[in-house]
Amino acid sequence: MTTTEVLDLTLIPAHVAVIMDGNGRWARKRGLPRTAGHRAGMKALKAVVRVAPELGIRYLTVYAFSTENWKRPTEEVGFLMDLMTEMMKREIRELHGAGVRIRILGDLSAIPEKTLQAVREGVELTRDNTGLQLNIAFNYGGRQEILSAVRTVLDRSPGPEEITEDYFSRLLYTEDIPDPDLVIRTSGELRISNFLLWQIAYAELYVTDVLWPDFGREDLVLALQDYQARGRRFGGI
Ligand code: FPP
Repeated sequence: MTTTEVLDLTLIPAHVAVIMDGNGRWARKRGLPRTAGHRAGMKALKAVVRVAPELGIRYLTVYAFSTENWKRPTEEVGFLMDLMTEMMKREIRELHGAGVRIRILGDLSAIPEKTLQAVREGVELTRDNTGLQLNIAFNYGGRQEILSAVRTVLDRSPGPEEITEDYFSRLLYTEDIPDPDLVIRTSGELRISNFLLWQIAYAELYVTDVLWPDFGREDLVLALQDYQARGRRFGGI
């Protein structure tokens, strides 16, 4: 029996969000530069994008670059920008062929032109696909996202009674995307790191010690099994 067979296929989370942490540690353990960890992380991401829809996941959101990641050495930031460009150029045909729809969550105004162009083309090419929706959080910060929504509210000056949770949710990058049911964080840290602060209000959290580049199908199945053992009450009893 494989791990997959013990999953309840009626209880698969529609939306899984992932904090892909541990690329640097993975590389260090092997005496490699951090960039090698990010490249291995990209390979793991490709594998998870293939497996997620097979397991019934409809939305996969991954934290690829945070608003805080600009503090990293220029070389590492440049490498991550180039990886994103590469994914949108070299991998896009395969993703498109698999019916993946790509969305970007984040502030694209600070992204280098070459990467931005590739991202725009990838999003445009896949916009009508109906398979897995892959949301890439890129130059994303939860606080920044909320502040930007607050600014829009002030601009529109609606009546106080109009400002409902639904109204506010629609001003976020995730406007029409259902909230994540499950957040997975790899590499053992017990932190949210400014990821989807509004959207994960009722998400189940799953932390594994596995470093992101080592994360694969079996690890995803384990996370789903753990999720299925939880009793989600959304504040009820
Ligand atoms: C965190 O690990 C990971 C990142 C900041 C980048 C995540 C990027 C990928 C998984 C590759 C795919 C990327 C793109 C752009 C499509 P860390 O570097 O903080 O690891 P550490 O905590 O072990 O140092």
